[in-house]
Amino acid sequence: MNKKIIALIVATVVIVLGVGFWFINSNKEESSTNSNTNTSENQNSNEQQEENTNDNDNGTTNDKKVAIIYFSATGTTKKVAGYIKNAINSDLIEIVPKEKYTDSDLNYGNDNSRANKEQNDSKARPVISNNINTDSYDVIYLGYPIWWGDVPKIILTFLDNHNLDGKTIIPFCTSGSTGISGSLSTLKNYNKNVNWIDGKRFSSSATEDEIKNWINGLNY
Ligand SMILES: Cc1cc2nc3c(=O)[nH]c(=O)nc-3n(C[C@H](O)[C@H](O)[C@H](O)COP(=O)(O)O)c2cc1C
Repeated sequence: MNKKIIALIVATVVIVLGVGFWFINSNKEESSTNSNTNTSENQNSNEQQEENTNDNDNGTTNDKKVAIIYFSATGTTKKVAGYIKNAINSDLIEIVPKEKYTDSDLNYGNDNSRANKEQNDSKARPVISNNINTDSYDVIYLGYPIWWGDVPKIILTFLDNHNLDGKTIIPFCTSGSTGISGSLSTLKNYNKNVNWIDGKRFSSSATEDEIKNWINGLNY
């Protein structure tokens, strides 16, 4: 067996174990997650207006203009994005779905929930409501929650809507336990003209120091 096939088998096993582990654990934690979700969603809508526009012009680090662009359904990725913003001179921009995700949309235990149907539909591209101008950025930190081991389909909508060729994009994600590798493969295959950096997955309890240390090691 050649090395590529072995690497592919190992990567597949890692992803399958990660998703399986998350699914088993998530059922145990479901009730506490649900109560957190409401609070996070309220915060989301209160703060959304402020972040929808590229209103701060300070996204410059070492001559490179940097943006943090993220989607967050229940606030966890949003929190990490905020920590990145505290660590680097950058603009913070939220990807806002035209149709907001409700609790039942996000019910991964139901095959017919909106999120599950989207993740199972290769053509699904949920509409983004806000105008995001990426033209001036050299470096983009792209954040999302892991959904079934992968990027939520709205991230592909974002990639479809913008010419990101030649830019450096640093993915980051949050999840119950699944790593970033499956979503990285999707992103790298989706636009081969982007300089994709192997990003990082964070848990819901990630601290600001953890994010700072990651940024310091990146050098972007
Ligand atoms: C539809 C759906 C699918 C998910 N799939 C996974 C998964 O495959 N692995 C995992 O560890 N967590 C999974 N999660 C949990 C989220 O990745 C996790 O709660 C994330 O931090 C939420 O981020 P957000 O608050 O920014 O939306 C899933 C959640 C939803 C709603």
